[in-house]
Amino acid sequence: METIAFLGASRGLGRAVAGKWSQLEIQPIFVARGKNQLESLNQQCGQGGEIWIWDFSQVDRIPSLLNRLREASPDRLIYFAAGGPYGDFSKKDWKDHLWSLRVSFEAPAHLLHGLLQAEAFPKLKQIIFIGSAIADDQADPKASSYAAAKHGLRGLVESVIQEGPKVDLRLFRPGYLDTDLLPANAAPRQAGEVLDVSMAADNFLTWAQNPKGEKVFTLKHPFSE
Ligand SMILES: NC(=O)c1ccc[n+]([C@@H]2O[C@H](COP(=O)([O-])OP(=O)(O)OC[C@H]3O[C@@H](n4cnc5c(N)ncnc54)[C@H](OP(=O)(O)O)[C@@H]3O)[C@@H](O)[C@H]2O)c1
Repeated sequence: METIAFLGASRGLGRAVAGKWSQLEIQPIFVARGKNQLESLNQQCGQGGEIWIWDFSQVDRIPSLLNRLREASPDRLIYFAAGGPYGDFSKKDWKDHLWSLRVSFEAPAHLLHGLLQAEAFPKLKQIIFIGSAIADDQADPKASSYAAAKHGLRGLVESVIQEGPKVDLRLFRPGYLDTDLLPANAAPRQAGEVLDVSMAADNFLTWAQNPKGEKVFTLKHPFSE
């Protein structure tokens, strides 16, 4: 049975993917800060998962997380967590920008570096990060530190893919999703251009489980045609 670690599984896309994948024969590990939400997810999945409460913004603890992952020896790992302050760059506190850069870039970059040490992760066959069709290759005003982190993550993942790692390293790039990340009054919501997260998760699962799936996959949204 495969062990799959879902990092950022308590809400949003991570929860939807983790919930659907856990209906299949896997041993899931659910990771995030929100204990209650992870417990309710695990209940929904028949209590078969492990729950790890972790804050990825504490970047000095990433080596401990890597040690714990090494012991669990996952077959696949998916990092969903990201975020950042909304507003003009200069008007937001530096600590909030730093949080964004840590959770959305530094933590996943450090994890990737550790996970690619193949001797420590002999079973690991797939690592997936989440980019953004909105913010990883173009400006995203009022979400500047988030966009900077997403540009960095995409640059890192695409570069490492071209180095030819032994694991199946991938990037999933959705557009606007109906999750907590998108403010309630965000313009795409008003324009009806927000994709249902369950639909995005279905597409994610089909793609991730397809050994021939594109390494960098941009999710097509019905209203973007
Ligand atoms: N929503 C969109 O429109 C959109 C568009 C393009 C790309 N994306 C990308 O899709 C991915 C998922 O986004 P989403 O919309 O599902 O976001 P979300 O609803 O805000 O969920 C984020 C998840 O990450 C976890 N997380 C956040 N900060 C964390 C931290 N410091 N430590 C541990 N876990 C943390 C959250 O759990 P806790 O709060 O419990 O820790 C939650 O489970 C992100 O990479 C995002 O950039 C989203």
